[in-house]
Amino acid sequence: MNKKEQINKGIMLLDATEVRNNLSLEETIEAVEQTYSQYYQGKTLLPPVVNMMLDDRDGELDVKTGFIDGFNLIGVKMAAGFYQNEKSYGIPSWPSMIMLADAQTGFPCAAMDGGYITTIRTGAAGAVGAKHLARKNSETVLLVGAGNQARIQLLGLKLVMPGLKRAMVYSPVREEVELYVTEMTEKAGIPVTGVFTKEELKEAAGKADIIVTVTPSREPQILREWVRPGTHINAIGSDGPGKQELDPAILRDAKVVADSFSQTSQIGECQHAIKAGYMKEDRTGLYAEIGEVTSGVKPGRENNEEITVFDATGMAVLDVAAASIVVRRSAEKEGTRYFQMFHLD
Ligand SMILES: NC(=O)c1ccc[n+]([C@@H]2O[C@H](COP(=O)([O-])OP(=O)(O)OC[C@H]3O[C@@H](n4cnc5c(N)ncnc54)[C@H](O)[C@@H]3O)[C@@H](O)[C@H]2O)c1
Repeated sequence: MNKKEQINKGIMLLDATEVRNNLSLEETIEAVEQTYSQYYQGKTLLPPVVNMMLDDRDGELDVKTGFIDGFNLIGVKMAAGFYQNEKSYGIPSWPSMIMLADAQTGFPCAAMDGGYITTIRTGAAGAVGAKHLARKNSETVLLVGAGNQARIQLLGLKLVMPGLKRAMVYSPVREEVELYVTEMTEKAGIPVTGVFTKEELKEAAGKADIIVTVTPSREPQILREWVRPGTHINAIGSDGPGKQELDPAILRDAKVVADSFSQTSQIGECQHAIKAGYMKEDRTGLYAEIGEVTSGVKPGRENNEEITVFDATGMAVLDVAAASIVVRRSAEKEGTRYFQMFHLD
């Protein structure tokens, strides 16, 4: 098919189920790992995020764009956060959509639900972080947060840490923990136990080989003195100004790896370590970006004693990498829907 024929065929439209059915966590982990390396090698474009705040209605709209050299697609994600949705309308607060365009012509070629892509690429990001930074013999994981991300993070870890034997999950909402325990014990295939109080959280942190923080908290959930030597922490929840889940002193004492330091210094845990004077904008205090580790330029974990932190704020190029897989697979399938927006003679 030539370019004109492709354009006339229309824009591929994919709903959440179609996206889900055409993307596995295994292949997303592989794609995310490769994309991190390409980001480090300067083979991607990741312009700054456009953030429009609509304070009068407690909402925001983020526009994230990315390009990966060698891919024939460029992408845009429109991700909204309208925090009164649940209360006012009984609908989710985080709608999002990904649009892809042909990287040779700029013509749009696909539009899809962005929710699952965000979920799965973030689960994959956590898996890649743990693969390179957690102790190989890690057996116990603590998830701080019992929502959407806490679920995919555990499934991702299960794929890359074959020795994982048990999980513990904390949330301030008891019912969420109970639901998670029932659901994820079955889905992850390992025993999951609930952590209900701050006192229990402290104890659980001291037993964990891997801690994953996945809440929208704005204050530390995990304190420095709770974390034992050799622990790896995936800091996932903090992806906006003011968001925070870790005591900055953890970053002071840890080997800190960022997905993209230009982002983590503004919206990740690094923002708070910088404010506390433990890190600097010039990268003082940062060990590496994850792409340096996945490319083999710098080693990941080097011994069983160091505390490691992967500060992952999410990158649009990960959305593009995952969405490209979905488009490739859907193009081969009967019944994929197209909308003819352009009619070129
Ligand atoms: N880094 C990334 O790429 C990336 C991608 C997706 C989501 N996120 C972030 O991850 C976080 C979790 O997302 P999710 O989709 O799992 O949300 P969710 O609403 O499904 O789950 C959030 C969990 O955190 C708990 N929680 C809420 N406020 C808390 C607080 N102040 N202290 C402790 N626990 C609290 C909730 O009870 C729930 O268990 C959000 O901050 C989101 O923005 C980051």
